[in-house]
Amino acid sequence: MPAILLDGKQIASEIRQETAAEVQNLTAAGIRPGLAVVLVGNNPASEIYVRGKVKSCEELGIYSEKITPPATITTGELLALVNELNARDEIDGILVQLPLPTQVDAKKILLAVDPAKDVDGFHPMNVGFLSTQRPGLISCTPAGIMEILRRSHVDISGQEAVVVGRSDIVGKPTAMLLINANATVTVCHSKTRDLPGVCRRADILVAAIGRAGMITPDFVKPGATVIDVGTNNVTDPAEFQRLFVGNAKREETFRTKGATLVGDVHPAVAEVAGKMTPVPGGVGPLTIAMLMSNTVKAAKMRRGGRN
Ligand code: GUN
Repeated sequence: MPAILLDGKQIASEIRQETAAEVQNLTAAGIRPGLAVVLVGNNPASEIYVRGKVKSCEELGIYSEKITPPATITTGELLALVNELNARDEIDGILVQLPLPTQVDAKKILLAVDPAKDVDGFHPMNVGFLSTQRPGLISCTPAGIMEILRRSHVDISGQEAVVVGRSDIVGKPTAMLLINANATVTVCHSKTRDLPGVCRRADILVAAIGRAGMITPDFVKPGATVIDVGTNNVTDPAEFQRLFVGNAKREETFRTKGATLVGDVHPAVAEVAGKMTPVPGGVGPLTIAMLMSNTVKAAKMRRGGRN
């Protein structure tokens, strides 16, 4: 029996509705949550992401501001901008879209964001709060993965979880959240010996590597829950064949667009897994939903108890 697909769009829509209700309540109490998004330069992918974030704010009633400094901005100038946003009371969340131009010291910028407004959860203080189970702001994609698991009633406590990928943005915080939820967690990376064997131990397998279709059925224990964080644009016909041979719908997309979006998990894994997230329509939609939810959380934590 093929895997049950976990519908990220549906879950994200539920979270957005819940968040919109909270925005209404807060706004009625005189606290309208506000998000500032800083988009440096003209990276086309970043422009698309930022457009989605601003649109989502509008739909939920969150105040938003898009700031677009030129690609030539210096670290000092960007620091000054972040400090201005830190000082403004009506701004609850500050998101500096990555990647930043090479002349900008990104680590310095992320460290300058007030941890109370750090809706990306990238500040070392929030990373520390997460690892020590204190209240704080949690990185959006890992938080979204946990929402998918919880709302799909996947058991976590006592289960074997394997996270493939050790990035600061996804792999490490996801591993931490799974540990906090009482899973037994293994984190794998490019130097891991016998990666398929380690992955086969997983009741919950999270793939966050950034390589199209790398997780093939031989990596997956029958019945496991597989979470695919990858978003890889496949344009090479041979690669397309390896992934989607015989899939009429994908062949049509590939013929007309010359590209198709693929996760880190090979589609044939659907024949082995018990539950899995599709790409597109799995983890992706949760990221913006959790950003909205983090903005409301930041507003409540910083301004909620003030009246
Ligand atoms: N660029 C790609 N993903 C992200 C993200 O989650 N946050 C930020 N700030 N930049 C990104």
